[in-house]
Amino acid sequence: MRKLLISIGLLVAVAAQARERVLWDFEWEFCRGAETSSWRAVELPHDWSIERVPGTECLFDQKYDQGSGCLPGGIGWYRKMFTLPASAKGQRVFVEFEGVYMNSDVWLNGQHLGNRPYGYIGFEYDLTPFLKWDAPNELLVRANVEQPCSRWLSGAGIYRHVWLTTTKPVYLTHWGAYVTTPKITSESADVRVRAAFQNQNDVQKIFTGQISILDPDGRRLVSSSQKLIVEAGKRGELDAILKVATPKLWSLNSPTLYTVRVELIEPDMLRDTVIDRVDTPFGIRTIEFTKDRGFFLNGEHVDIKGVCNHHDQGYLGAAAFDRAIERQLEILKKMGCNAIRTSHNPPAPRLLELCDRMGFVVLDEAFDEWSGGKTSMGYARFFDKWSERDIRDMVRRDRNHPSIVLWSIGNEIFDLGTGGGTATAKRLADFVHDEDSTRPVTCACHNPGDTADKVANALDLLGLNYKISDYELFKGKYTLIASETVSARSSRGEYNLVLNDGKDGRVSIEKFLNNHASSYGIEQSENNDEASLKALHDHPWVAGEFVWTGFDYIGEPSPFPWPSVSSYFGIMDLCGFPKDRFYLYQSRWTDAPMAHLLPHWNWPQFTGKEIPVWCYSNGDTVELFLNDNSLGEKKMSDCYHQEWSVPYTPGNLKVIAKRAGQIVATDEVVTTGAPANLEVSIDRQEIAANGQDLAYVTVRVLDAAGRLCPDADNLIHFDVTGAGKLVAVGNGNPVDHGDFQTTDRKAFHGLALGIVKAGKSTGASRVTVRGDGLPAVGLGIKTR
Ligand code: GAL
Repeated sequence: MRKLLISIGLLVAVAAQARERVLWDFEWEFCRGAETSSWRAVELPHDWSIERVPGTECLFDQKYDQGSGCLPGGIGWYRKMFTLPASAKGQRVFVEFEGVYMNSDVWLNGQHLGNRPYGYIGFEYDLTPFLKWDAPNELLVRANVEQPCSRWLSGAGIYRHVWLTTTKPVYLTHWGAYVTTPKITSESADVRVRAAFQNQNDVQKIFTGQISILDPDGRRLVSSSQKLIVEAGKRGELDAILKVATPKLWSLNSPTLYTVRVELIEPDMLRDTVIDRVDTPFGIRTIEFTKDRGFFLNGEHVDIKGVCNHHDQGYLGAAAFDRAIERQLEILKKMGCNAIRTSHNPPAPRLLELCDRMGFVVLDEAFDEWSGGKTSMGYARFFDKWSERDIRDMVRRDRNHPSIVLWSIGNEIFDLGTGGGTATAKRLADFVHDEDSTRPVTCACHNPGDTADKVANALDLLGLNYKISDYELFKGKYTLIASETVSARSSRGEYNLVLNDGKDGRVSIEKFLNNHASSYGIEQSENNDEASLKALHDHPWVAGEFVWTGFDYIGEPSPFPWPSVSSYFGIMDLCGFPKDRFYLYQSRWTDAPMAHLLPHWNWPQFTGKEIPVWCYSNGDTVELFLNDNSLGEKKMSDCYHQEWSVPYTPGNLKVIAKRAGQIVATDEVVTTGAPANLEVSIDRQEIAANGQDLAYVTVRVLDAAGRLCPDADNLIHFDVTGAGKLVAVGNGNPVDHGDFQTTDRKAFHGLALGIVKAGKSTGASRVTVRGDGLPAVGLGIKTR
């Protein structure tokens, strides 16, 4: 069928009529409920579960499952009417959904195209057989979210991007390209490219398949061509190894990306025509997990300093906006984080593209449940029928991302405690190996519940959740990664200091109080942040850790009952504002000198009483001063925070961190006056006029001297006019039941957030922020 022709060249007189792939997120209609009536316009990505049900008083309702944030599910319909240009007749037309939550059905002009239960997997339908060329087409999508279906906010609806792709009848297939780098030396890298194609003509076709490698600047480095003969209705595959000389390796600090370009070229006497072209970015890098020395990237030891994240984006719900994902990664980078676990499901493709580009390694995870369900309406209902397809699709979709270094077949799987679990683990691992042999397969186990020993043999590497005391047990036995650690709860700005009048009259820290968890790192005695960092430090053969979690998420407000509706596990809150724990990780995971003090210094109710003061720093020593009087210098060696007991007097509490005797960082907390002003800042002055870019507007409530008021809870009002639109407000308080899609939100410990979405026209947006009793502040955002 195939014959290798020439390896360089064939670039003369080639006309391009390659595929078109357009973002299809606009001009949709939506209606909620079992019947299709009362359509309204929506733009994707969209999550109906965070929209208040008309006629109800509150977004949240106690009658819904707390795991998914006391938010409703139900049925939702989406409709898109579209007309295709007559010139496109004869082309193949595909629609690709990156994710619909969940159990979606899709129809085109009344013809059922398919059902896809798993809400986290992408899928494509060929629209061609049912298209009308002379009249409008109707694409209809139904999502059915039967609650309870998840232990966290799943979201509801078409919450990821949709794409429309048009190709010639001979085309490269969806996820059909597979790029590996079987041999890498400093002189050259072998790049193996396999790419599947399809001939939908009713005659045999002869054409040329050309594979090229482009350097990071888009210059073609090398090409290889093959003559292809493919029968009517049949598939074929290109397969070639190309060499890249002196390759630049993909690494965390220098995430170099090359591109594989696959082209199908139709020969002609006069000039050849490119009839299809697909570009796939890839990286050249080696990975190795070892039993005795941990993880190696390009032969260099790397400590995996990771976080687990669910897919939701705080007050945007599950709607997967590119910029929201990017902003989360930017915040994590500042903390020194270098790895993401996509707990507990395949993520939005954009997350992986960003990790490739920004230099994160990724543990890509398939499932939270197999046959043994964790919620009554969850994925377990579909596991037997769909798991092979879903896990293979995950690997096919994601296997070209250099950021991915591990596949996970599941998280704390109930089946592993029962007889059949080991066989299922083996089966799933085999599917993964079958689709990609270049990365190890793990499973996040909760020993002894998941009985790690039973499953370890089915895996290349054991993932252990928590149980840091078991590292010793597994030493020398398994290659190990701490797939999940810590799970410490804290509420940003809450310290839970109480005067124990009945006891010793001292100020003490309550771990939990009034549905809030203290921000002192006292949560979780065995597996807490500091103990886990120490365990990883003491067991350098463990490949690293993924802290539960980077960001708070909606749902799983454990251990608090209603009215809590979102989790407390995040190092960042739902707005993405860092909690105090952020600075612990920054002190351990980065080198740039830093120091951070907690708590704030507004405790008039405790005058004269001793307040616990903590400091995180990566200096050698830290010295604390209260109103310029030293309270002593302490060493940071061998400890993860320093603490002092400081009799409360208002004023200025300052810490100085030194390295080799020189001051390298300081931090201070100052007793503030009453709220007097607002400070409004924005993450980017300019956003793209693409209808989806976002600007994050942070509001800080300040006293007259410009200091953050740590307890301010003023009602903040956002007003946005011009090219952008206010799409969400938030404050990071897990107990706040305010609507997300409104204009007002109380500050929580002095902070509030507004999110502005770009329109499709260029121009300026004016953001005006008012706080009750405080002067208004305005700023502009340019939309380009
Ligand atoms: C883990 C689980 C996570 C989350 C966490 C909360 O055991 O894997 O999904 O539930 O507990 O502590």
